[in-house]
Amino acid sequence: MPRVAITRRLPQEGLEPLRAAGHRCEVHDADEAPSRAELLALVAGADAAITLLSDRVDDAFLDAAGPQLQVVANYAVGLDNVDLDACARRGVAVAHTPGVLTEATADLAFALLLAVARRVLEGHRLAASGRWTGWQPLQLLGTSLQGRTFGVIGLGRIGEAAARRARAFGMEIVYASRSDAPRAEAALGARRLEVDALLASADVVSLHCPLTDDTRQLIDGAALARMKPSAILINTARGEIVDEAALVEALRDGRLGGAGLDVYQHEPSIHPGLRDLPGVVLTPHLGSATVEVRTEMARVAAEAVVAVLEGREVPQLALRP
Ligand code: DGY
Repeated sequence: MPRVAITRRLPQEGLEPLRAAGHRCEVHDADEAPSRAELLALVAGADAAITLLSDRVDDAFLDAAGPQLQVVANYAVGLDNVDLDACARRGVAVAHTPGVLTEATADLAFALLLAVARRVLEGHRLAASGRWTGWQPLQLLGTSLQGRTFGVIGLGRIGEAAARRARAFGMEIVYASRSDAPRAEAALGARRLEVDALLASADVVSLHCPLTDDTRQLIDGAALARMKPSAILINTARGEIVDEAALVEALRDGRLGGAGLDVYQHEPSIHPGLRDLPGVVLTPHLGSATVEVRTEMARVAAEAVVAVLEGREVPQLALRP
């Protein structure tokens, strides 16, 4: 009976395909990440592993698992925690969960944008404080989105879904991406720009690119200096795309209008400077955090594992040995 190591407690309903196939599941049955030693012990001897974005899948992981390991299914669309070359060298298939979290992540990008632009948290704090003295013409004035420019860096599935939302709010769309996006250009009137031109012209810069060697620290001090002083930065992609210390400096100096962040450079720790700035809204990596989506992600990962172990084709494979 194949053994599947699952590195965290996941929505049970989504794991049904593993039970139906009769696989033996060994779970790190906790919400917190296992220590590295616990992780390596858990995967030892496994035929398949379902991993999380915080689990490093590298040579040491694959050595600990052993040569019988056939597939790693990452419970995320991002694969920056997985050394794909190391998996390829060993003939280990890699699956992930694209598609199912697109709309939820775009929703959260927009929730952050609206919260920053309309000062929702400051408003909540005032309303809940018991010290609100009544409607005032100049109280907590925010920024209108209508007619502003929404800049998407990385126009993949999630970037396009965020751009659709921006369009519905009456925004102009510009994007920077590895390739042309004719569908978004036709449907949303999106214009492709180089990153520097996008940074200089957008009122909102929303990050939706994967974390790669090319995008690590893409938004550094120099990039922030190119942005309008009124611009809002939204990051629901990966924290390491942004130089957090440079972002804090830009916000403190009034060189940037605000930031809505769901991901952080050194997760789970967050630069202390981000915590008490009024134009900043922080969420703890919640992009895909709906009951429906997290259950679907588990189902997609579980089905990929079952299919690989049965030698069937799997659409979600990022790496086919
Ligand atoms: C992902 O899928 O990459 C997210 O960061 C977690 O849902």
